[in-house]
Formats: sequence, C-alpha cells, structure tokens
Amino acid sequence: MPRHTVVTMPGDGIGNQVLPEALRVLKAVGFDAEYIHADIGWECWRNEGNALPDHTIDLLAKHRLGLFGAITSKPNRAAQAELRPELQGKGLVYYSPIVTMRQKFNLDICMRPCIGFTGNPLNYIRKKTGGGFDEPQIDTTVFRQNTEGMYAGVEWTNPPENVRAALASHTRFKPFAKVPGPDLAVSVRIITRNAARRIVTAAFEYAKRRGFKGVTICEKPNVVRETSGMMEETAKEVAKNYPSIALWSTNIDAQLMWLNKNPEDYNVIVASNLFGDILSDAFAGLVGGLGFAASGNIGDEVAVFEPTHGSAPKYAELNPPIVNPIAMILSAAMMLDHIHEGQKADRIRKAIAAVIKEGNVRTYDMMRLSGGPKAIGQGAASTVQMTDAILEKLG
Ligand code: NAI
Ligand code: MG
Repeated sequence: MPRHTVVTMPGDGIGNQVLPEALRVLKAVGFDAEYIHADIGWECWRNEGNALPDHTIDLLAKHRLGLFGAITSKPNRAAQAELRPELQGKGLVYYSPIVTMRQKFNLDICMRPCIGFTGNPLNYIRKKTGGGFDEPQIDTTVFRQNTEGMYAGVEWTNPPENVRAALASHTRFKPFAKVPGPDLAVSVRIITRNAARRIVTAAFEYAKRRGFKGVTICEKPNVVRETSGMMEETAKEVAKNYPSIALWSTNIDAQLMWLNKNPEDYNVIVASNLFGDILSDAFAGLVGGLGFAASGNIGDEVAVFEPTHGSAPKYAELNPPIVNPIAMILSAAMMLDHIHEGQKADRIRKAIAAVIKEGNVRTYDMMRLSGGPKAIGQGAASTVQMTDAILEKLG
C-alpha cells in the first residue's frame, strides 16, 4: 500500500497540462503515493450545474490531501448560457469551486511563497543610484486569509429590505439611502477574530521556522477601521507569543509602492483575503510571474496545493503544450513540505534552481515571448521539455 493518497484535480485548460508534469516529478523523487482523479471545473458546471461535484468533496474529505490544476470560470450570464439545456432556467447559480472548496473544508490558511531563483531572466532588478543595476534576492511568503474578508461572498445587488434597513441604521449610509435598489451593490467584508488569529499565527510559525526577524501585517486600519483594525489588533496579540520576532505594520497602498523600492525587506507578510490576493500576485510578479507562483490552501484537516494561475484557455489547445509547469511543480513541493517530506521537496526546488541557473531550457514566458504556436520555433522549451530538464537534474 502506498503511504499517501492524493486527490488530483487537474480541472480545466492548462490544469490538464501542468498537473501530470508535477506527478512525474513526484514519482522521480520517490514519493510513495496513490493518486485518485477527481473532477472539478467548467465541464462539471455545464453538465451537472455544479463546478465542485459531491464526489470530489467526498474524496477530499476522505483523503485530506489534494493537488489542483486550474479552473475556468465565467460571469453569470455566460455561465447560464453554457449550462446543458435541461439544466437551464432551474435557478442554478455558478459558484467558484475553489472558493467553495476553501470554505467547505475551512482551508483558511493560504500560503503563497514568492522566492526568486538565481538566473531567472524575469527576476526584479533595481537601478542603483551610482549606475548599473542590482538584483536583490526576494524571499517573500504571503499568508493570505482564505475564507473571509471581501471574498466571504456575502453580497447583493439590490439588497433585500431588511439589509437596507440595517445599513440605514449606520449614519455613514446616509449618502446612499436614496439610491434605487438595482443601482446599489453591497459586498460585506467579514473578519472574525479566530480566523485572524489563525492566519497571523501561521505567519509567525513560518517566520520562526525560517529564522526571519519579522512579520509584516499589511492592512489599512486607519480607514477600514473595524475589519483591518481587528486584523492588526489580533496581530499585536499573537506577536506577544513570539518575542524574538518583530511585528511590522504597513498599509496596503503604501506596501505596493514599496514593492518596487525594497521588496527584499519583506520575508513574511500576512493579510486578509483580498489584500493578500493582491499582494501575492504583486510579489509573484517580481520573481517571474504566474509561471512561478505556487500556493497552498491549508486547513486543520484538509490541504490542497495549486499554482495561482488560471486555466489560460488561449494556450490550452496547443500541441505541444508551452506553458511553464514550474508553478505546479513548486505547489507539489509545498505539498511534500506539508506532509513532512521536506527533503524530497528540497530536492525538487534544487533541481528547478539548477535548471534556471543553467539557463539552457526556458519556457516562452521566461523568454518574454508572446506565447502561442510560434513559441517553440522561437526557441522556447515545451511544458514537457521543462519537466524533462528538471527530472534530469534530479538524477
Ligand atoms: P490565467 O492565469 O489563466 O492566464 C493569464 C495569462 O498568464 C495567460 O494567458 C498566460 O499568458 C499567463 N500564464 C498563466 N499560467 C501560465 C503558465 N503556467 N506558464 C506561462 N504563462 C502562464 O488567467 P486569465 O487568463 O485571467 O483567466 C483564464 C481563466 O482562468 C478564467 O476563466 C479565470 O476565471 C480562470 N482563473 C482560474 C484560477 C484558478 O483556477 N485558480 C485563477 C485565475 C483565473
Ligand atoms: Mg489571484
């Protein structure tokens, strides 16, 4: 019997191209696992009216460990139009299967490392005042609260009467009181102290493990007083348990400005859902972008690892596939870290580092090509060739 069972959810588009590559790498490091395929994504929505089928939920509940590729999602009108005819007009509503999965299993810790590989031509560089450039080593991991905040999903266009009445009880609602219902959209930003404590604690634990000097809480408590206020207040409380690690506080807007000034100063950043999403994409851009951005969605029981990129439909039909498998492979390495197979994870990261440092094998994104069918002819490695190069370094 294999020691581990992993539920594999390639999903849509390029998810189907990159996930098998990660499995090749896991096999090469001797990861002893059985893989069980589970459906997720757009085809499930079209055929069943549910992008996250119950069967997939059951498998995740049972095996508790998942690898996920990417899904396609579309706005409401398109979602309705693409439903199988028998399912149309039945009041089915499209929900993002990833958001649903995160909420269902309380995968409330989202960890997004943005760590630069030496030799990556996409790495951030900075002009030196005396001329020339330097390339600081960026090693930032964003801890994003994954289930609440602006993505809690509590929102309305044309809010019901009782909601309007509740809003009207707030003095600040006055300027909006006369806006007609259909012209009024409201999204509720919900933060709970318990979830705030969990995400901040995860960030401090990581900083402790890695020996970092500080954790940065990135919010906007001077304006969004209640919710960002609770995040920051909780961070201060949690920080008391880690006397050797400093707590720094930045505002989301200023932080994005500083991103271009001194990104190497931030090793661990913690934020609520929307801000964390923005921050992690912004930092990922400094270390190569979507082809390098891995993530983990981690709960007490279930954990699912995925690249942060989507299904990139415009490249999904290309043969051979051209997208960069590294984000997916790094996500698989994070999965290994999570289940205490860190040595295997380190081997994978070292092999990737060696390929990048050598610079002979680069996917189209690493060459700043526009992608598309011509990329291979222009010297880009295919998805499979990139994985082959990584496998070769694994020996
Ligand atoms: P996307 O991430 O799929 O692609 C944006 C662009 O980034 C691509 O066109 C490509 O140029 C580049 N890119 C993405 N992954 C890459 C890789 N591995 N290697 C090299 N280049 C890569 O985002 P987009 O186009 O906004 O959305 C496409 C679909 O994916 C939509 O239906 C969207 O809703 C969905 N999506 C799903 C996500 C998920 O499954 N977690 C996350 C983001 C979007
Ligand atoms: Mg995002």
